[in-house]
Amino acid sequence: MQQNKVDLPPVRASGALLSLAGVGKVFSNGVTALDNVDLAIGEGDFVSLLGPSGCGKSTALRIIAGLSLPTSGTLEWRGGSFDRSGIGFVFQEPTLLPWASVFDNVWLPLRLRGVSKAKAAPAIMEMLSRVHLDGFAEAVPRELSGGMKMRVSIARALVTKPRLLLMDEPFAALDEITRFRLNDDLLSLWQDERFTAIFVTHSVFESVFLSSRIVVMAARPGRVFEELAVEAAYPRDEAFRTSPDYAALCRRASDVLSAAMQANGGGRDDGH
Ligand SMILES: Nc1ncnc2c1ncn2[C@@H]1O[C@H](COP(=O)(O)OP(=O)(O)O)[C@@H](O)[C@H]1O
Ligand SMILES: [Mg+2]
Repeated sequence: MQQNKVDLPPVRASGALLSLAGVGKVFSNGVTALDNVDLAIGEGDFVSLLGPSGCGKSTALRIIAGLSLPTSGTLEWRGGSFDRSGIGFVFQEPTLLPWASVFDNVWLPLRLRGVSKAKAAPAIMEMLSRVHLDGFAEAVPRELSGGMKMRVSIARALVTKPRLLLMDEPFAALDEITRFRLNDDLLSLWQDERFTAIFVTHSVFESVFLSSRIVVMAARPGRVFEELAVEAAYPRDEAFRTSPDYAALCRRASDVLSAAMQANGGGRDDGH
């Protein structure tokens, strides 16, 4: 069981790593990006936020990352606080330094913590190997495909061994084959490194393949519509991806997503 210090508030029953309680975000232009969001993320979970554009997925992720403050409600961490240096972030754009080598790009977060190149080298080389980029340490981003750039971005996020990895539609711009490979590799990294993952996507297939739980969101205002448990064992591989179980889970998630989109008046994707 949890060992709480007496002066801390009680931990929620689930033992969640973090919880959003009644979180709202109203931007200064009057847009309600999030309305009364309750969401608990357990340690070691792989949770997807699934929903149409504009339902507040990125806003929720930014609030968890501490890049944005809620205008109502609270974000609570187990034990009362969380060292945000324990958070890794992967965005849709790989956001690599174009002039720097793959090695130096992955070194960056360690360099910012004062770790010398020599000292960082073993961790960097191990991470590059984990994302299947052996032999590319000295390449520069323009020499890499979109999928390889994303691999560098994942290596950079994981080289600091974060406890929590936040991913905002990281594979949305990639072709399907590349996306499948990255999904496979991400899951095996998650299983080995045991970080907690929050993954934003608008792909039903991707969310079902990856997650232990899917939080389906609706827009206008952005809110949690329904949560789905994905009751399929890990490791998940190609056999799972082609199984009747996977197809049935996708159908269910797709139905819930359709209902969520109906719930905002058949809200259309705004192309964001
Ligand atoms: N900085 C901002 N200022 C004003 N409105 C914003 C801002 N960021 C996002 N929004 C609006 O908030 C809503 C939710 O946005 P976002 O969290 O980006 O949704 P998603 O990631 O699900 O597409 C959208 O209507 C968007 O236009
Ligand atoms: Mg977004």
